[in-house]
Amino acid sequence: MPEGTYYFPEGFLWGTATAAHQVEGRNPNNTWTAWEQEEGRIINGQTSDLACDWWGGRWREDFDRAQTTFQNAHRLSIAWSRIQPAPDRWDESALDYYREMLIGLKSRGIVPMVTLHHFSEPLWVAEMGGWENPEIIDIFTAFVQKAVEALKPYCNLWVTINEPDVFALSAYVVGVFPPGKKDLKAAYQVMHNMVRAHARAYAVIHEIQPEAQVGSAYHYRQFVPATWFPADRWMAKVFHTLFNDLFPRTLKDGLFNAVVKKDRIPEAIGTQDFIGLNYYSNDLIRFNILARDQMFATLSFPKDAQMSENGFIANLPDGMEACVRWGTQFGKPIYITENGVEDSTDEMRPRYLVEHLHALWRAINNNAPVLGYFHWSLVDNFEWERGWTQRFGLWGLDVETQKRIRRPSVDLFAEICRMNGISSEMVAQFAPESLPRLFPPA
Ligand code: FCB
Repeated sequence: MPEGTYYFPEGFLWGTATAAHQVEGRNPNNTWTAWEQEEGRIINGQTSDLACDWWGGRWREDFDRAQTTFQNAHRLSIAWSRIQPAPDRWDESALDYYREMLIGLKSRGIVPMVTLHHFSEPLWVAEMGGWENPEIIDIFTAFVQKAVEALKPYCNLWVTINEPDVFALSAYVVGVFPPGKKDLKAAYQVMHNMVRAHARAYAVIHEIQPEAQVGSAYHYRQFVPATWFPADRWMAKVFHTLFNDLFPRTLKDGLFNAVVKKDRIPEAIGTQDFIGLNYYSNDLIRFNILARDQMFATLSFPKDAQMSENGFIANLPDGMEACVRWGTQFGKPIYITENGVEDSTDEMRPRYLVEHLHALWRAINNNAPVLGYFHWSLVDNFEWERGWTQRFGLWGLDVETQKRIRRPSVDLFAEICRMNGISSEMVAQFAPESLPRLFPPA
């Protein structure tokens, strides 16, 4: 077997990503906390409850875990509902707490990246119509201004909105996120408002902090036509335009192209300093006249693909390279803001990890300007409508006792971060089944 190491560029950021609602626990005044109380919303009626108990202080031990395993960056989000529990009330103690967390990262030599909206809002925002109401542009901007003013000494990497594509689809088309609508018109309005809110937030952050780097994090998926039928090929194009292109293209050229309806949002042009990419898997797509609820498409995975524990993710590492190639068209630096797999037994994760990083390495060696990689996630956390059934952590979590369980992937990822690369030795030790792919015999 050939021996060697695929090295990443000097100064590459290596870390994990988390989101407030998924790790903090006991998050009142929040849309997701309320949603979890409704019957039938979350698998097996599970709730986030204490989550990973970061609001109770366990972020300290988890940041220690990140530090001692050589991670030099961490992406987290802050909860709007804690900072602004009512329209006319700012909770300074919540901002103090986030300040402490960011100082906690910095003092451990970990660069923070902060997401300002990650799938959840204060209840009062939902009550006034949430992202469907254009007033949200002003109120989101006010929140961003308040938060960035408070936290700017400790962070200059900001993600305005996490996965606007997944959010609009899950909350307004499929209906599995609050407010649980199935309304294409509403989804259009939500995306439109999110683009404008992002543009305003971008301007405000740069006013407060000229050196800030501001972007969004997009969930990228390749939609591969399941057959050669023109209808399937057309469906793949429509999904690509709506899901992948819509938001970032508007930020590039101002054209908001939602296929059946187009608009211009000129104030959005040039409002991204970097592109955040969340890549997990790809889909085969088929036109299905009966699937009205899913925009007339049926999605599936290739039959021969290796599947994750609950069948949620297919191990398709070449998609990582395609994702990054797509991201380069915007002419900005790229961060992989999420990538990972649900796997409580850690049987698939080591393989998934090295194969995706190898694909990322290939993209970088084709000149893609990738600056960092954030694995989803540090510790198992609350997976939205899928509750606790999906385990994405390098560390496992015993939800009853809050005990962390060290999975083998912890040591693999630590070695990757420490070496700034993937070596044949670590692949042989942690994911021998990936050797032929990463280090093929001559
Ligand atoms: C992404 C979300 C993140 C997490 C992962 C598994 O779509 O941004 O919060 O749930 O999926």
